[in-house]
Formats: sequence, C-alpha cells, structure tokens
Amino acid sequence: MKPKIYITRKLPANLVNQLSSQFDVRMWEKEDVPVPKDVLVEEIKHVDGVISLLTEQIDKEVLDQAHKLQIIANMAVGYDNIDVDYAREIGIIVTNTPDVLTESTADLTFALLMATARRIVEANDYIRNDQWDNWGPYLLAGSDIFGKTIGLVGMGRIGQAVARRAKGFGMSILYHNRNRNLEAEEELQATYTSFEALLANADYIVSLLPLTTETRHKFNKPAFDTMKQSAIFINASRGQVVDEEALFNALHSKQIKAAGLDVFEAEPIRSDHPLVNSPNVVCLPHIGSATIETRTKMIQLCVDNMKDYFFGEGPITPINK
Ligand code: DGY
Repeated sequence: MKPKIYITRKLPANLVNQLSSQFDVRMWEKEDVPVPKDVLVEEIKHVDGVISLLTEQIDKEVLDQAHKLQIIANMAVGYDNIDVDYAREIGIIVTNTPDVLTESTADLTFALLMATARRIVEANDYIRNDQWDNWGPYLLAGSDIFGKTIGLVGMGRIGQAVARRAKGFGMSILYHNRNRNLEAEEELQATYTSFEALLANADYIVSLLPLTTETRHKFNKPAFDTMKQSAIFINASRGQVVDEEALFNALHSKQIKAAGLDVFEAEPIRSDHPLVNSPNVVCLPHIGSATIETRTKMIQLCVDNMKDYFFGEGPITPINK
C-alpha cells in the first residue's frame, strides 16, 4: 500500500505529480484559501505525511488526531505554526525549508529597509494622487542608508545575507544573537552587542528573530524607548515578536522615525489597522520569500523531504529529529 499524503493547499501540478507514483495524494483544492481546521483534523486522521503551509496551526488538538502521521513537511523556514515539541514527543518528524529562501528573503528585507528609509511607497502615491506640483528642497526627503549602522537582531543564515547587502551599502553592522556568529564577525566585520546596546546605537533595527516563547513581544515599549528618535525599525521575521501597540505608540509619539513591516501579529492585517494607516509605515503582506523561483524551490524541498523520508535515506531538513 502506498503511503498517504495530505497537502494543505493547492500546489502546482508539476510538483505534486512527482509524488503520485509512490504516494496516495489528497490535496485541499484552493490556492488562496487555507484549509479550515475541521477539514485538516479530519484529513490528518488517515495520512502518513502532511505537506503544510504556515497558515495551518498544527497544534496538540490537531496532532492528537494524527494517529498514523509520521512526517510534516512545512513549506517555510519558520515552524511556529506547529507544536514541534509535542510532535517530537509522539514521534512525528517535522521538516522546514531552510537555505533555499535565504537570498530572496534577504533581498526583500533590504528592499523594505530601503523603501522605508527613502519613502518610496509614499512617493509613488504622491504621483498617483496627483500631488506633485513642484520640486522642493525637502520634498519627500528620507534618511540615508550608506554610512549608517544596521543592527540585526537574529544572525542566522538570513541575518548574514542581509549583513552582506548592508556591507555593500557601506553600513556598519551590529548584531545580537543567542550565540556569537564568528563567521559573520570575520567575513562582514559585524560587531556583537547586547540587545540593549544594539537598540541604542543602530540607525536601522532589523528583526530576523524566529518566534519562540522567549522572543514573543521582544520589541516592546522598553525596547522602542531605547531606540534613537531617528531609528527605523524593520520586521521581516514574525509579527508576534513585536508588541504592535507599543510600536504604534512609538511611531505616533515620534519616539522612533519609521517602520517597515512584512509580518504582523495577526495576519492578514486589515486596512483599518492603525499601523497600516500610519504614513511612516511601509506594510507588506508577508512576502519575504515570495519569488517564483524561491517558492518553487520551497515546494520542491517539501516534496523531496517526503520522498526521502519514505523511500530514501531520511528527511533532508528535519528540525526535530
Ligand atoms: C518562512 O519561510 O518562515 C517565511 O515566513 C515564509 O517564507
């Protein structure tokens, strides 16, 4: 009997078809709508493997129904949507998609930093709204990037890739991480600092933190109070590492200058959210890794993890072995 797999979103046929000779595959048939939890709970009862997206909360309630499940291949580098510890406890392997998205995510993070610093979105709206009547000495003047200090909170693969881009822009690099990253220090002349020193000294504070119990609301009122008034805050990791009310207050009271956000505490964020309506905020809909090439590689890695787990030498990128 072929192992049974459930895929929680409609994925391209050319990728899914790679599984069909070896697996019995079922798939949620919508591309833009996540599978409802009750459907997932029903499907997960009968399968040996799941390919999931970050929109699925695979918590204890769901896992308790997964009587046969052996592996979850999550199409993201982050895996805070899965109770990984409980999965480990009940013998389910979880895999993620590291490496293949590093450079695209770093590109987007730097693009968001630049868009926020140079007020690109505002400037585009300015023309679209026919507001451009005259050139002015400080018309839409933003903040310099070259020669400034970037503070990276989280110095994993993506942090290092952002640091390489920052170096190309002549920036000084501070970083804070659970462990020192000596490779980054040597290659990029990045300087390790405490979290507080980074907040106090960086011109651009960039969050690349995974979401864990320790990092939830790491960027809170005291953190924003420590930043310079000229600081620009960028979040390209997970929304819940930020206390959004504290961020909004910091922006509104001019405690900090601006923010660029690719992720939010509750996604999708709506257009009436105060952060979306702040002129000094650039908002993106969680598109860090969203290039056709990279998303295709992420799906392919999920497919390969499934195949290698059941028919090869074991999963390629397990996180909780
Ligand atoms: C991830 O991979 O964790 C991103 O948030 C989506 O690519």
